[in-house]
Amino acid sequence: MRLLIFSSAALLCSLAAVFAAPASDVTSGSAEALTTLQRAGQKVICSYPGQLVPAETLDAVTQGLCGGIIFFGENLNQSDPSVLLTAVAQLKQANAEGLNAGRALFLSTDQEGGVVRRLPGGPFQNAKQVGHSRNVSAAAASSGQEAAAALKAYGLNLNLAPVLGVYRTPNDFLDEFGRSYSQNASVVSTAAAAFISGQRSSGVLSSAKHFPGLGAAGSKNTDEEPVTISVPLSELRSIDEAPYKAAIHQAEVELVMPSWALYPSLDAAFPAGLSRTIIQRELRARHGFAGVTVSDAIEAGALRDFGSHEQRARLAADAGMDLILAAARNASQGPSVARALAGAYDSGTLNRTEFDASIVRIEKLRSTLPL
Ligand SMILES: *[C@@H]1O[C@H](CO)[C@@H](O)[C@H](O)[C@H]1NC(C)=O
Ligand SMILES: *[C@@H]1O[C@H](CO)[C@@H](O)[C@H](O)[C@H]1NC(C)=O
Ligand SMILES: *[C@@H]1O[C@H](CO)[C@@H](O)[C@H](O)[C@H]1NC(C)=O
Ligand SMILES: *[C@@H]1O[C@H](CO)[C@@H](O)[C@H](O)[C@H]1NC(C)=O
Ligand SMILES: *[C@@H]1O[C@H](CO)[C@@H](O)[C@H](O)[C@H]1NC(C)=O
Repeated sequence: MRLLIFSSAALLCSLAAVFAAPASDVTSGSAEALTTLQRAGQKVICSYPGQLVPAETLDAVTQGLCGGIIFFGENLNQSDPSVLLTAVAQLKQANAEGLNAGRALFLSTDQEGGVVRRLPGGPFQNAKQVGHSRNVSAAAASSGQEAAAALKAYGLNLNLAPVLGVYRTPNDFLDEFGRSYSQNASVVSTAAAAFISGQRSSGVLSSAKHFPGLGAAGSKNTDEEPVTISVPLSELRSIDEAPYKAAIHQAEVELVMPSWALYPSLDAAFPAGLSRTIIQRELRARHGFAGVTVSDAIEAGALRDFGSHEQRARLAADAGMDLILAAARNASQGPSVARALAGAYDSGTLNRTEFDASIVRIEKLRSTLPL
């Protein structure tokens, strides 16, 4: 049971030797005081397999190689809430005693509603049911509050929801599990904004996904395979991107998650999350989004032609992705991605001005979270 007995004192001694950083730098809370590797680590959301947090993950958090954690169903035990509560407490302790002391970890999951819920608790209604409510705004606000309550019961602070996709065909990829509020972009906009505001009023961050929209993906899933969404730019903007206006300007959503689909009307070569055009021109310049971007799972099948997870992460960071989701439930994946990003920064492969600006956005959002 070595994995459970986490000796923080011994770990800190060995870390001090490795980094030889003055204690004041470690706890000063300014990004400049961190090493490149720790700064790169702030950009990575790690994951782990099973119900016990592996020593490797606690160690990575202490060393500042994980800026956050994404939790999946396999990380909890439905009949024993103490499993996840203990995991969160261990991770927070590892963070508080490590080189990222003073910075909150992003603790995230996918709690959309209906069948797409990792945690016990609400929202029991799926997005489609919310979209069909008599008062969509009121139903979506309650749904956001229920999702936030489910996260907060375990000390989590970031929900990778709501889905802003405007589905096209009954039973398609988004509609199959009722993940899309409506076929009507205006209803999706109202619902998404209310869900985001509802979550914020309950102290949980939202991530609007998956920009610029998966509503026209048909039956294809980017988790499994490359997906091309060939809708004309005018349609993409008037239907799929419409809810982002409400999410960004009305609800001031904290994070946006781009999709891994390819949108030839915007960029014929790179999927949205790897596309400078889509992140910089469409999301940031056109929609005025100044918050934090978070990638979808870096191991997704849609990216199979873009190299290793580490190479994909470099491309994503270069395109403007602030946080990288290392969601393979492999304890080595996140730290390995962090090392790759640090290497790309040191070698000058990544634009340092943009990297620094990305860290500032992340730090600013992190500073709003309780420790
Ligand atoms: C979940 O917890 C219950 C109660 O503590 C335990 O009996 C069960 O073995 C656990 N399940 C798994 C998969 O570990
Ligand atoms: C719908 O709910 C919102 C938020 O609770 C409320 O402000 C609004 O008055 C309601 N609209 C109707 C038509 O009842
Ligand atoms: C879409 O929803 C809006 C707002 O509820 C409504 O006014 C409009 O008529 C709907 N459009 C269609 C095509 O149903
Ligand atoms: C886990 O991730 C590491 C680092 O990316 C990789 O080398 C290793 O092959 C992965 N393990 C599995 C079982 O996929
Ligand atoms: C780095 O990014 C900044 C901001 O986008 C840009 O002004 C600058 O030209 C870039 N530098 C290089 C070497 O590409």
